[in-house]
Amino acid sequence: MATVQDRPLQGRHILLGITGSIAAYKAAMLCRLLKREGAEVQVVMTQLAKQFITPLTMATLSRRPILVEFFDPENGQWNSHVSLGEWADCYLIAPATANTLAKMAGGVADNLLLTTYLSARCPVMVAPAMDLDMYAHYTTQRNLEELAQHGVAIIEPNSGELASGLEGKGRMAEPEEIVEALKAHFSEKKKPLTDRHFVVTAGATIEPIDPVRYITNHSSGKMGYAIAGELARAGARVTLVSGRTELPVPAGVERVDVLTAEEMYEATTKAFAEADGGVMCAAVADYTPREVAASKIKKSDEGDLTLTLRRTKDIAATLGAEKGGRVLVGFALETDNEQAHAEEKLAKKHFDFVVLNSLRDAGAGFRGDTNKVTFVDAAGSEELPLLSKQEVAVRIVERIVKILSK
Ligand code: C5P
Repeated sequence: MATVQDRPLQGRHILLGITGSIAAYKAAMLCRLLKREGAEVQVVMTQLAKQFITPLTMATLSRRPILVEFFDPENGQWNSHVSLGEWADCYLIAPATANTLAKMAGGVADNLLLTTYLSARCPVMVAPAMDLDMYAHYTTQRNLEELAQHGVAIIEPNSGELASGLEGKGRMAEPEEIVEALKAHFSEKKKPLTDRHFVVTAGATIEPIDPVRYITNHSSGKMGYAIAGELARAGARVTLVSGRTELPVPAGVERVDVLTAEEMYEATTKAFAEADGGVMCAAVADYTPREVAASKIKKSDEGDLTLTLRRTKDIAATLGAEKGGRVLVGFALETDNEQAHAEEKLAKKHFDFVVLNSLRDAGAGFRGDTNKVTFVDAAGSEELPLLSKQEVAVRIVERIVKILSK
């Protein structure tokens, strides 16, 4: 008898986005295969996609009306991109044209397929389809990289004969391959952190001085967001306690917004109580104004202004003291005596390992997309080369998985 593991798509809600590529004809077969695997399929198409495959074909195969516009012009019924995103267990865009990929990477929302992408909380997968030169173009590659960095899974196109008559990489993966990618995605067996819950802190805290001014730091949150996304991709439930940032919430991650160190402390300790581990990536203010002025502090022409600051609570140290069997990972950003400071933090905050970055290393630090880190644990240290923050996140999650499997 077939088991759930054999049919990982059984009962799954797959939102199938179809864009205007000649490969759209393969979406018909894709839809049939998904239905055969027991999935519910809802199709959303772009206007141009309708020129390549008819809505009637897709509606018949999916057994649901096709969605193209924000509302039905006949009766004004609203097609809610938010509810579509909520309904879906996975948003699969196949074929994905260079144009749609560029719009996704740029946050453009000029059709239903794209607004649904922007509001989707579920994992998103794309199967690119285009001519070889368009695929190899640096803009397409850059857009794919950008999307991958934010957790979109890319189902690589194949090399072969293209509609243009040219040969090369750009042919959309075959429907069977796409279904396999989806099955692998839903197959719990593959995911090492299924049923685990992690808390990640990210970004800078903001400590108000008066209603207008505040104290903060340069942390962008990028490293923490990348880690949250990777943990989710490894199957974990993730609570991301985040300072103010413009970054999008990675797929499958639940974000809790905070401003001050105190708020971050409250949210993180609460979430950690029920979690299996934490990654403390936030740049938390060590000091906060003792008093927040109720109205804007006026300047005076004479004398200096003195602000009295008091210590904030150390979130990581608090969690470390109560961690029990949980995994706790910390960061150390140092400007000198790096190794010694990292070792001190490892012991003091009961971290399983510390991710050390030095501001002296080129490519490491706050706003960039790369990082140069050294892992420090009780057994010693491992220095990594300069990597993208995404790749550093992968390495951190690999270490966590190893610790948990001991
Ligand atoms: O002692 P230091 O601030 O350098 O330690 C850095 C580590 O401790 C980071 O993992 C950071 O997220 C965490 N931390 C914290 N709460 C604080 C200060 C630091 O969780 N108040």
